[in-house]
Amino acid sequence: MSDVEAMKKLVGAAAGELVESGMRLGLGTGSTANPFIEAVGQRLAEGEISNVVGVATSVASAELAGMVGIPIESLDGARLDLAVDGADEIGPSLDLIKGLGGAHLREKLVAARAERLVIVADASKLVTQLGTRAPVPLEVIEFGLAATVAELEDFGEPVLRVRGELPVVTDNGNLIVDLWAGLIDQAADLDRSLLALPGVIATGLFVGMANSAIVATDGGLAYLDRSFVG
Ligand code: A5P
Repeated sequence: MSDVEAMKKLVGAAAGELVESGMRLGLGTGSTANPFIEAVGQRLAEGEISNVVGVATSVASAELAGMVGIPIESLDGARLDLAVDGADEIGPSLDLIKGLGGAHLREKLVAARAERLVIVADASKLVTQLGTRAPVPLEVIEFGLAATVAELEDFGEPVLRVRGELPVVTDNGNLIVDLWAGLIDQAADLDRSLLALPGVIATGLFVGMANSAIVATDGGLAYLDRSFVG
């Protein structure tokens, strides 16, 4: 196991300790959320916790949850007690860029219905300003794609996400445009402006949604709250 994988496992296990019996959980997507899902499955298997159910943010996470024995429910119904998910950038006040894994629409729906969103990440995700390294992933509808892309040029450089020759299709049947917007001063304003475009269904900007973050650093685990300044 590489150092990075070991760190992700450590963070996942730490987040897994936040889970209590009877909780309805939001299960994130990606290489850091996966060890969390596995840790919850292990605690269930060992009888440390019981009656835990999950709402998955992607088909991949639902499959993993099934493999480790976490019953999956739909998002409809009671609010979630806790959602745990990764991030691509963690900026001041725990504002985030998410969606390099393409699951940000469902991740946002789940996060919005959770009492608490805890982000799991390694220290490479910490930035002093959003947009430092990552583009803003946008879930866009295929109908009228060229017009949407043209509108997005006002905000930066929009790039249709492809795998090989083909556009990436999300779990919801839509496409992804990665918007290279440069350093982002006002993430909430940018989010609102992007969502005002009719072809944009969701942005990867998560503003004021995360309550805390568990970050693997060389010195061990760091627990951050919204006082984080980058
Ligand atoms: C998935 O769509 C993303 O929002 C992920 O949460 C993000 O890409 C983090 O993934 P890793 O933990 O694999 O870096």
